[in-house]
Amino acid sequence: MKTICILSGTDRPGSMALKIANHVKPLYEKQGVNARVVSLEDFPLAEAIGGNYGKDLPQIEAFRNEVIDADGIVMVIPEYNGSFPGVLKMFIDYLPFPDAFHKKPIAFIGEAAGAFGALRAVEQMQMICSYRNAHICPERVFMQRVKKIFDEEEGIGDEMVSKLLNSQVEGFIQFVSQIETMESV
Ligand SMILES: Cc1cc2nc3c(=O)[nH]c(=O)nc-3n(C[C@H](O)[C@H](O)[C@H](O)COP(=O)(O)O)c2cc1C
Repeated sequence: MKTICILSGTDRPGSMALKIANHVKPLYEKQGVNARVVSLEDFPLAEAIGGNYGKDLPQIEAFRNEVIDADGIVMVIPEYNGSFPGVLKMFIDYLPFPDAFHKKPIAFIGEAAGAFGALRAVEQMQMICSYRNAHICPERVFMQRVKKIFDEEEGIGDEMVSKLLNSQVEGFIQFVSQIETMESV
């Protein structure tokens, strides 16, 4: 059975990113996929402080393995200052080098209080993931004015966004399988 990691891309307590990640998890499970949510709220930041790049960091290693051992990664990215949260870059900077996202299928969900729905944040992150040799899923989902269209209890209140999300879930599972086949030949 495939494993998908849904990464909540911020350490902000009470974030919409984590609520959305928890909403997305059962959508994958319904399709017969093993899904887990990993939140950057739990990133062991203390171990990174002081610029400990390349050192033996057992807590960070355990955290990052939960993400990169999955067959595919769904990043839920909030928009902070027209970009993605700094802790997400910190997480990436502590991935093993040069492997990091090598050949890893990655899908993106952007979400923001504002009208751009984290479009810039996602596109900036796509650049980084492509640089690190990830396979980017072409189906992206953007949630604009996220507090108006998403509620933890009610789910997604916008029909179009809901359709796009369901389509991304089905599309990403196929994408992960196709990449696996392509890489095995
Ligand atoms: C540090 C910070 C910067 C933010 N910058 C933006 C921004 O540039 N554009 C925007 O639409 N919303 C911005 N927001 C609001 C977030 O989009 C909003 O909190 C939304 O719920 C997504 O973030 P969350 O997953 O942390 O809840 C910012 C929030 C924080 C905490």
